Amino acid sequence: MTSYLEAEVLPARNTGAIRLYDAEAFEGMRRACQLTARCLDELANIVQPGVATEEIDRFVLRFGLDNGALPATLNYRGYMKSVCTSINHVVCHGIPNDKPLRDGDIVNIDVTFLLDGYYGDASRMYPVGKVKRAAERLCEVTYHSLMLAIAEVKPGAHMGDIGAAIQTFAEGERCSVVRDFCGHGVGRIFHDAPNVLHYGRRGEGAEMRPGMIFTIEPMINLGRPHVKVLGDGWTAVTRDRSLSAQYEHTVGVTETGCEVFTFSPGGLDTPGLAIGGQHGTAR
Ligand code: MF3
Ligand code: CO
Ligand code: CO
Repeated sequence: MTSYLEAEVLPARNTGAIRLYDAEAFEGMRRACQLTARCLDELANIVQPGVATEEIDRFVLRFGLDNGALPATLNYRGYMKSVCTSINHVVCHGIPNDKPLRDGDIVNIDVTFLLDGYYGDASRMYPVGKVKRAAERLCEVTYHSLMLAIAEVKPGAHMGDIGAAIQTFAEGERCSVVRDFCGHGVGRIFHDAPNVLHYGRRGEGAEMRPGMIFTIEPMINLGRPHVKVLGDGWTAVTRDRSLSAQYEHTVGVTETGCEVFTFSPGGLDTPGLAIGGQHGTAR
């Protein structure tokens, strides 16, 4: 059975209960998530052929510290960087290193800032130089699947509606949905209940209630859905080495629908793609 409780009464760890946040917490999430989104906006000017992902890591750390925030991934379960940078067939949790990005790469940059007790978690794909049409199309399919999922978020809907929307669309585009990683409750805790699956069936899973805050972060592959984690214990790659893309937004359930906390203030939700980022934050 799912249990729902006001966020303040729950201990500061993932207990399996779904936290319901109040208006003050929504304001805290707006601030943390907009800082994350501004950092991702800035990165659009930095990502280019020849730049090493370690330079991106240094930028994210500096940007956070300059703005009173800490990168949540730093020292998280042994992860030692301020950001994840996942290139081409890397599905997620790519570790920044000194290798330069190359013309034609697609890289996911996933930033989470902890600001005044709230976690803002978002990621976007960045095309490096000129990329192949297949890579661009994968990014478009992935972002569109995320927006279709966000359109499902409202009180009374079910978490399975999110997964069903993503899976139906992505598979209809001859892509596949990664099963091994999911979105998550977020707020005063980085990774909290519920798990947000990116596949599944309409009507299944917990019912959405106002005050819930979670991420949706589909990982979509051009080939098969299967992944493996490399010897570093973090880097997840597609088993068939096909390209993988991911976008992530943090959203809150409102009385009437949802608020996307991590929309780009600069119109850069899909940097480098012909499709525009979506705008507005509330409905
Ligand atoms: N930001 C990632 C997410 O979307 C989590 C990264 S955890 C790390 O949930 F340790 F890999 F950095
Ligand atoms: Co996340
Ligand atoms: Co993230």
